[in-house]
Amino acid sequence: MPKQKPILITGDRPTGRLHLGHLVGSLEARVALQRQYESYFLVADYQVLYDHLEDSHQVRALTHELVLDWLSVGMDPNQATFFQQSAIPQIGELVQYFSYLVTIARLRRNPTVKEEAVQAGQDADSDRISLGFLAFPVSQAADILFLKGELVPVGEDQLPHLEQTRELARSFNRAFGQFFPEPKPLLSKTPRLPGLDGKKMSKSRGNAIFLTDSPAEITKKLQKAKGDPKKIHVSDPGDPKECVPCQYLEVFAPEQALELNRGYAEGKLGGADIKAALAEILEAKLAPIRAARADAAAKPKFVDEILAAGNEKARHVGEQTLQGVRELVFGK
Ligand code: TRP
Repeated sequence: MPKQKPILITGDRPTGRLHLGHLVGSLEARVALQRQYESYFLVADYQVLYDHLEDSHQVRALTHELVLDWLSVGMDPNQATFFQQSAIPQIGELVQYFSYLVTIARLRRNPTVKEEAVQAGQDADSDRISLGFLAFPVSQAADILFLKGELVPVGEDQLPHLEQTRELARSFNRAFGQFFPEPKPLLSKTPRLPGLDGKKMSKSRGNAIFLTDSPAEITKKLQKAKGDPKKIHVSDPGDPKECVPCQYLEVFAPEQALELNRGYAEGKLGGADIKAALAEILEAKLAPIRAARADAAAKPKFVDEILAAGNEKARHVGEQTLQGVRELVFGK
């Protein structure tokens, strides 16, 4: 029997289209890792309910778009399992057990929950925070541990959730017997890609280039991208660190960046030259992604079938885990 590959799990909330920051920060790593590990990619559709209570029916369409984005970059349902949080009853069941192993005070100390509450106009310290919101890290621990996940590729903001997951695994093992692994985070090696305005890239700030943007949209967005404010004329020296398109060049075409950014620094090239070169490089990168997305979108029921198969597999693995949990907790 070949040794089973270690289990990798990660996922996204279905909140809208994915952008270049996702591509270099997480999607490319998933494509590189999916074969090496027993990989699971989850659509975190429960985790969007906190700010989609009024339009919860949109979550289905957003899920569909997310899976098309995944397919477009080469995440492969033949290599990995794509599934939805809400389709796996065993996740909810595991949350029940975990909920007795963590205190409200501990959840309130989670800096990511605090920060997300602020962004949602709420306060994690207030009694008016919803149980579900405060329990994000518990549900996330269940997402990972119902599969006995071992490796979790995530961004830095998710480290507190991973720590909570490890704590819950330890608490469970201490209370009932050794059962769960303590999953490890896998941080992206690429530094975070800034938004076009130099601030954190995010959908809501309107400073992101989406995987689905057309060449015309990209050119238009690049026109507004932040350059070095001290460089007024082409002949002025410029600092590539102050120039967002220069930084994109370093990420997407490191070799060409060397010369282009030197030109920018020495007053031989202007912001417009850099943007024109970048537009071409991005187009070469995004055209095949757009084409793959269109292919996947053209097949009726393709996404539904991928999720149905993935959900079934995840439920099967989850049921084995939960049988073990029930026996440890209540006996055979
Ligand atoms: N909280 C994660 C995010 O906002 C999404 C997520 C939910 C997740 N469950 C997970 C990521 C389990 C990794 C593992 O991006």
